[in-house]
Amino acid sequence: MGRPARSYVGMVIYIDYVNRAGRGLVKVCGIVGVACSGPCSRYFGKPVGLLIKECLLNLEYRGYDSVGFAVYSSGRIVVRKSRGKILEVERKLGFDEFDGAVAIGHTRWATHGEPSDSNAHPHLDCGGGVAVVHNGIIHNYLELREYLRVGGHVFRSETDTEVVPHLLEELIGRGYSTLDALRELARTLKGAYALAVVVSHEPGRIYFIRNVSPLVIGIRDGAVFVASDIPAFLRYTNRVVVLEDGDFGYVSADEIYVENVVRGVVDWRGRVRVVDWTPDMVAKGGYPHFMLKEIHEQPTALRNTLASIPPEVGEAVKAVAKADRVFLTACGTSYHAALVGEYLLNTLCGLNATAFIASEYLRYRKILREGDVLVAVSQSGETIDTLMAVREARKRGAKVVAVANVLFSAIPRESDVAIYTRAGPEIAVAATKTFTAQLAVLLYLATEVARTLGTEDPGYLDLLRREIAALPELAGGAILLHEARIKRLAEKLRDKTNAFYLGRGIGVPVSMEGALKLKEIAYIHAEAYPAGESKHGPIALVEEDFPVLFTVFDDEFKDLLLGNLEEMKSRKAFTVGLVPKGYPDIARRFDFAIEMPKLAPYTAAVLYSIPYQLIAYYTSVAKGLDPDKPRNLAKTVTVE
Ligand code: AGP
Repeated sequence: MGRPARSYVGMVIYIDYVNRAGRGLVKVCGIVGVACSGPCSRYFGKPVGLLIKECLLNLEYRGYDSVGFAVYSSGRIVVRKSRGKILEVERKLGFDEFDGAVAIGHTRWATHGEPSDSNAHPHLDCGGGVAVVHNGIIHNYLELREYLRVGGHVFRSETDTEVVPHLLEELIGRGYSTLDALRELARTLKGAYALAVVVSHEPGRIYFIRNVSPLVIGIRDGAVFVASDIPAFLRYTNRVVVLEDGDFGYVSADEIYVENVVRGVVDWRGRVRVVDWTPDMVAKGGYPHFMLKEIHEQPTALRNTLASIPPEVGEAVKAVAKADRVFLTACGTSYHAALVGEYLLNTLCGLNATAFIASEYLRYRKILREGDVLVAVSQSGETIDTLMAVREARKRGAKVVAVANVLFSAIPRESDVAIYTRAGPEIAVAATKTFTAQLAVLLYLATEVARTLGTEDPGYLDLLRREIAALPELAGGAILLHEARIKRLAEKLRDKTNAFYLGRGIGVPVSMEGALKLKEIAYIHAEAYPAGESKHGPIALVEEDFPVLFTVFDDEFKDLLLGNLEEMKSRKAFTVGLVPKGYPDIARRFDFAIEMPKLAPYTAAVLYSIPYQLIAYYTSVAKGLDPDKPRNLAKTVTVE
């Protein structure tokens, strides 16, 4: 294809502009590939079809409406794909019948083209010699499709992805090597893409290219994996190379080649990292759902996170303590953690700190500047809105501190300072253990900044430090004490369609997180807001038995909140209270009270999230839903 004809170039720019305006689609899929030194049945003791299925199951939190794989077998590429969840499709297609040394696989989350057999991945070119799996969105696919269609290519799906195998077919047909064709692809495609490609004339290789959407390589003797995320192949290796934007190349059983469109050939050996995660961490471990397992893992997640903070936090404390202004940004649950961070820096450190939702970062373009610090919070470290905010802040001269859970992911990699939560891999779409770990990190950071700035009584900071250290045990105790009772509460909530979560001060973001959990996995429309706002409108919705959940800490807001409680009770609401232990008279005022350890509000905020997670989990289960795979959602959102 070489450089596109002039008139075509003009058109590309125009179309791209339209796409930019028309965006807002979210696409998150899981891709995997394995290149082995011989048939996988001999090497892994199972046919490659089963191996791919297994890896995809570890990526199913990324998308689960259709599945497929391509395997190189008896001289040609064989593709099997269908609409449906992995285990359903496996029963239909029989993954175990397919063996070979090289295969790629995909679990999909539909954006372009509804979930269907023809829109499932892998996609082939006209000749069937190029098979592609893709995660991301190709923004300029319409004009590429039109260009290829005019050139005689026949499309079988409605997807954006299908332009890739046809473009490669076009270039290879013009004498490009596959690697050169990939290099040209990197110049032609616009948008976000992680691609894995097999071509029939090079049976031992899997080609790959990464732009924005995450892609990692997993290395072991005699076999090499490529995948969207580490859990895919963690059972077989924890030696990984995290690919960066613009990286492309190929892997085979005994060869890895990485090149970057800007920086040229990459010394990938210098990038090999050993991840301290174990396969058990990505297995359910006997729990019915990953979400429940991960809720129960919070004592360990907090313990590991607290143990690893001190060495990492020093730089961040210095940066935040001397910042002119501090901004915090994130999305979803991580945004609620950022709001807690804002509250801590405002009230403990007296700092001018502001949290904003990352997808609104453009608003801060003229505000962010040298001297500012941006704290970016992200479990996956790949959420594109947060990554874009990080890039914008750095462009403006601000320093960026990242709080992330996935090691070496894009956001910490592109930040000045990285603090990792050590919660281990989080598979369930609903964030739980990573949220409490984020709060522990932000609380630790704020107490250290307050100590540095001398803005808080050292005795009180010592008390907070002691309470922080006790969080892992207290978390275990809260789960043990309340889980069974909360199961009964869930029976009461299962038929509800609405709910309010009310708090004051640091209780507001904790309530917002509680409401988000109920929304995302139990599909109940839950709204959280500062309790003082009730009288200004929302209370109009309250009627008999309307669930209102209160986040009550042992702080200066307690009495005001109890006033709000009376307002709701006088409208016969069904009231649930998370209240500090040792106030039986307060607990008795709620229809259902959950007594939590009596701690400073800052530390209690970490613990109070746990009963809210359990309420959402058991309500979802009571409704017969799958808490791990909520509809319309995916774990990591890698496209704006
Ligand atoms: C939370 O349960 C959701 N999975 C979602 O809101 C998530 O918090 C958000 O997409 C941000 O993800 P991140 O922490 O990986 O950046």
